[in-house]
Amino acid sequence: MFHNNKQISKQLLIIISLIIISFLVGCGAQEEKRSQTIDDEGIIVGFSQIGAESAWRTCNTRSVQEAAAERGVQLVYDNAEQKQENQIKALRSFIAYQVDVIVFVPIVTDGWDNVLQEARDAGIPVLVTDRKIDVADPSLYAGFIGTDSLKEGRNAGLFLLDKFKNERERFEKTGDHINIVELFGTEGSSVALGRAEGFREVLAGHPEFQIVYSKSGDFLRSKGYELAVEFLEMHNDIDVIYSHNDGMTLGAIEAMEERGIIPGTDIVIVTIDAQQAAIDALREGKVNCVIECNPKTGPEIIKLAERLAAGESIPRLQYVHEEVFYETDDLSLIEPRGY
Ligand code: AHR
Repeated sequence: MFHNNKQISKQLLIIISLIIISFLVGCGAQEEKRSQTIDDEGIIVGFSQIGAESAWRTCNTRSVQEAAAERGVQLVYDNAEQKQENQIKALRSFIAYQVDVIVFVPIVTDGWDNVLQEARDAGIPVLVTDRKIDVADPSLYAGFIGTDSLKEGRNAGLFLLDKFKNERERFEKTGDHINIVELFGTEGSSVALGRAEGFREVLAGHPEFQIVYSKSGDFLRSKGYELAVEFLEMHNDIDVIYSHNDGMTLGAIEAMEERGIIPGTDIVIVTIDAQQAAIDALREGKVNCVIECNPKTGPEIIKLAERLAAGESIPRLQYVHEEVFYETDDLSLIEPRGY
């Protein structure tokens, strides 16, 4: 009995030692694997995405992930779930992990100075994508690639000038305004600010246009619906909805249809993104103008990250190609959107 117990203790000791050894070897192997990844298998990119609030966003994430996989770039991905503090934490963890490059979509423009200084101190270059930032020292990031939101806003305004060109006379005679609802994106985000600014800039010399309601729907379909319920209660004379993204537009269309209001006819609708559902709505006459915001930036982002990792400089500002789709276009020519 005593002998047996002794034997068991010995066996246990051997097993415990093996576990400890394999753990130590495992850690070593992991260390080795990580440096192999850096040296032999390409670069490591930390990618901080803001969330999955829209079809546009999930397409954007997919685009980056697929491009990284194609180029053999290891992507450390983080979804911040719409919180800036989560993004800052993610950026700090990328710094601790010593990634080669940080790529991030800033949810809002402000509040990035400290963490970007930390990235600089660690010698990690930063690429900003999709949304812009305001930092005291712009050299804290290497460059920006993404959408031109000011131009998107201007295009929305230009469409309305054309759409209502014959109504101006009516306004001059009767003083009747063209009443606009603006479904605003996330407060403090560069895209929402740019889309609002460009729109107002174009309509500035045209007093017949009047924005009677503007509220943030956070780029969410559910909030677009809720806001529509509210503004349709408040106003019965809305002529136009200018929506900062398709998700909010689709929510608003749902609320309108439930109330017997015909979208695209009773109320003119201009929307941004050009996801498939918005193009379908344009074809059905429920939307009048769709302004593209291009989410398929992955290949270009990864190319830029590779250049940064190689110590090269990149352009400070790079806008992606974007189109505008009008109700009067030959809509059969629009290729499937893929998001
Ligand atoms: O920053 C781009 C915007 O964010 C897109 O227009 C919108 O759909 C998204 O969620």
